[in-house]
Amino acid sequence: MLGNFIYSNPTKLYFGENSLDYLSSELAMYGKNVLLVYGGGSIKKNGIYDKVVEILSACGKEIFEDAGVMPNPTLEKLYEGCERARKGKVDLILAVGGGSVCDYAKAVSVSVYCKEDPWDKYFLRMEDVDNKIIPVGCILTMVGTGSEMNGGSVITNHASKLKIGHVFGDNVFPKFSILNPVYTYTLPKYQMIAGFFDIMSHILEQYFSGTDDNTSDYIMEGLLKSLIHSSEIAVNNPTDYEARSNIMWTATWALNTLVAKGKTTDWMVHMIGQAVGAYTDATHGMTLSAVSIPYYKLIMPYGLQKFKRYAINVWDVSPSGKTDEEIAEEGLARMEAYMKKIGLVMSVRELGVTEDMLDGIADSSFILKGGYKVLDRDDIISILKESITCE
Ligand code: NZQ
Ligand code: ZN
Repeated sequence: MLGNFIYSNPTKLYFGENSLDYLSSELAMYGKNVLLVYGGGSIKKNGIYDKVVEILSACGKEIFEDAGVMPNPTLEKLYEGCERARKGKVDLILAVGGGSVCDYAKAVSVSVYCKEDPWDKYFLRMEDVDNKIIPVGCILTMVGTGSEMNGGSVITNHASKLKIGHVFGDNVFPKFSILNPVYTYTLPKYQMIAGFFDIMSHILEQYFSGTDDNTSDYIMEGLLKSLIHSSEIAVNNPTDYEARSNIMWTATWALNTLVAKGKTTDWMVHMIGQAVGAYTDATHGMTLSAVSIPYYKLIMPYGLQKFKRYAINVWDVSPSGKTDEEIAEEGLARMEAYMKKIGLVMSVRELGVTEDMLDGIADSSFILKGGYKVLDRDDIISILKESITCE
């Protein structure tokens, strides 16, 4: 049975090859001072920076730059961004980049006028925002996180070896996001496929929970089929517009809150992946791929019917003459083969994890209760051990 829910998503999307043409009409709605947030320089190399600055200047905006947002943005960088935004009295934060840049922009937007330490308030205590929020707009260049249409913001605190995401409410969602699939063409293959698996993981985190016959499960099976199909095309031909645009759109739907409505969700792959990230600073999608198969093998017996359904509806496993276990196992085997084929990282060892880190990673993994099995610390250690020894 669908649980009760309220649904609204305030982010306005502009999608397609001409989507940047709409930036000036959005800019007209905000004041003069714009904090232009971006990462390590990819937007300067591929020309997106020049195009955006030209539009900002033509609209008479005063630009305050905040460059150098790193993958897995840190707390130190957040403090720096707040200082910059405060000094510039900014009216709008324009994030141009991937999930890290968008997440960081949201974190700055809620922290600039926060009277307490934002790490304690938002990330440790998970409190709501009760101060002024600076509006955020996004121009997305990397596909995967869904940050362009959600309230998520993940910040890494290296001192305490914690990577924590806060899911903020509607008031923190980007006011608008510009999604041009062509902007993703320059992504290195490693980042591109990491993004593909991030999308897959977001869907699975919401799919593998609950026993109800839920409309969301059918939507998610469709999203997964589209993703698998298009990702195989994109790996061979990264400039296939149809594939890249389908993937961009799937990523947004995978985590813009819709498919989670009315159902329970899991998110343990992300909890373990984020702990791996806190220890290694590895690429987010690869931290998820490296722990997924050991995790799903471990929980499969507790959610067997859903894993059977997954095998049949997503991986086209023929059920005839097979036990439920055999069907479910074949589904996971096909998923594993797909992951290896597109080039994902299957072992945390490849991400820099060493045996002596396992206890710490297990301790940094928050345990959630929505999945088919509530893990204990030993389960997390065994998942990590299986991953670290995976060939
Ligand atoms: O920094 P630059 O030079 O721009 O390079 C980036 C970065 O090195 C590069 N890149 C991005 N667009 C490019 C490009 N290179 C060439 N051409 C382009 N068009 O890609 C690298 C990775 O970018 P990043 O933004 O870090 O990747 P992603 O989008 O995967 O974001 C990862 C962050 O998002 C968080 C993750 O934890 C991680 O911190 N997440 C946010 C979520 C949310 N808001 O809901 C949910 C996710 O589960 C995830 O946790
Ligand atoms: Zn993710």
